Amino acid sequence: MSGTTANLAAVLPSAGSSLVIQERQIPSPGPDEVLIRNYAIAVNPADWKRQFLGMYISSYPVILGMDVAGVVEAVGSDVTLFKKGDRVLGSAPGTITNNPDQSGFQKYTVVQATATTKLPDAISFTQAATLPSAVLTATVTLFSALDVPLLPPSPQGEPSSSGGGKGKGKGGTGILVWSGASSTGNATIQLARRAGLTVFATASPRHHAAVRALGAAEVVDYRSPTAARDLAAAARRAGVDVRLAVDPLSTAETLPLVLAALAELSSASGSSGPSGPSGPSGRKKLRLAHLGPWPDQVERPADVDAVPVRALDAWTSRRDLAARVFNDLLGTWLETGEFVPQTPRVVDGGLEGLQTALETLRNGVSGEKLVVEV
Ligand SMILES: NC(=O)c1ccc[n+]([C@@H]2O[C@H](COP(=O)([O-])OP(=O)(O)OC[C@H]3O[C@@H](n4cnc5c(N)ncnc54)[C@H](OP(=O)(O)O)[C@@H]3O)[C@@H](O)[C@H]2O)c1
Repeated sequence: MSGTTANLAAVLPSAGSSLVIQERQIPSPGPDEVLIRNYAIAVNPADWKRQFLGMYISSYPVILGMDVAGVVEAVGSDVTLFKKGDRVLGSAPGTITNNPDQSGFQKYTVVQATATTKLPDAISFTQAATLPSAVLTATVTLFSALDVPLLPPSPQGEPSSSGGGKGKGKGGTGILVWSGASSTGNATIQLARRAGLTVFATASPRHHAAVRALGAAEVVDYRSPTAARDLAAAARRAGVDVRLAVDPLSTAETLPLVLAALAELSSASGSSGPSGPSGPSGRKKLRLAHLGPWPDQVERPADVDAVPVRALDAWTSRRDLAARVFNDLLGTWLETGEFVPQTPRVVDGGLEGLQTALETLRNGVSGEKLVVEV
């Protein structure tokens, strides 16, 4: 296969320029890798930030893209879980490894087998492409940054009660997920539920039913002046101890609201928390995972451990976590409906459509993932 030019890629030639379609060789998988013929590719905020702001890019030309879904074309010598012809999704690490063969914005992508999931027939490629980055990020957020125990699914498809809490029932432990309709929020809610946490979320009102359907026990509008109080009242009614929070956006606007809500939620229960070192009061410290850099103008409260999330750890130091979720759990959850993809919105034009998709995402999306079909 190597040496042919049947591959096509959307290449970023220089900082801030538009993507250009170029032929390139079809790559070959390394021993622990899978070569995917992509049929759907999604765009992520990190892609437009790389293109328009030059963030995280050390040299050009570069191929962006992290989310792919398609059919396995070849597997490396050590790969036993996948075979040619399997329908899969994959999380493409190329922009971190600086290996363009591992980038998503092309017809053929090499991904790590540990970040690959076999798809049930009922899940389309466009649906599947919404998942890789969101699930990878949620995995690192919960099971690394927030130290939530990673659990197997129970036979009944309900979250186990032996880990973080008791699901939607009385008691147990909970988590605040801000921006629950975002891609990462969507996956974090579902993964948190599977890990047995009761989820308290925020979202625009038009997404409340959908966010509840993902498993959130309570959803309020993040614009509401009573958001923190309303979430705390719900936690009190449920008897759930909430000491964990996730802020996907992590801006100077969102973080003070998240911190205020976490403070109200934790005081609603008044009991000791599930994990983590004790604060000055002797009670367990609160823990907040932030997906963006902490803004200078936002004060860090002494009783909150603010933990930065680096999803890329799942391609490097925490490939074990990726393997557990992508290889062992996600495929089954998709099959049983315990985990559902985000709503995809197809942008026309195939690889050429990626430029439009990036510009659209930069202007902001709400409760959907932009995907191109190739
Ligand atoms: N650190 C890492 O490793 C890592 C990994 C992945 C992503 N990220 C970062 O995480 C962030 C989120 O990524 P994503 O893909 O989840 O984004 P996304 O899906 O594009 O986020 C869109 C959502 O943001 C919500 N939103 C917009 N303005 C808001 C506000 N003022 N307050 C609360 N929510 C608001 C909207 O909610 P409604 O529709 O309900 O209004 C919308 O659904 C990005 O900045 C990304 O770069 C970091």
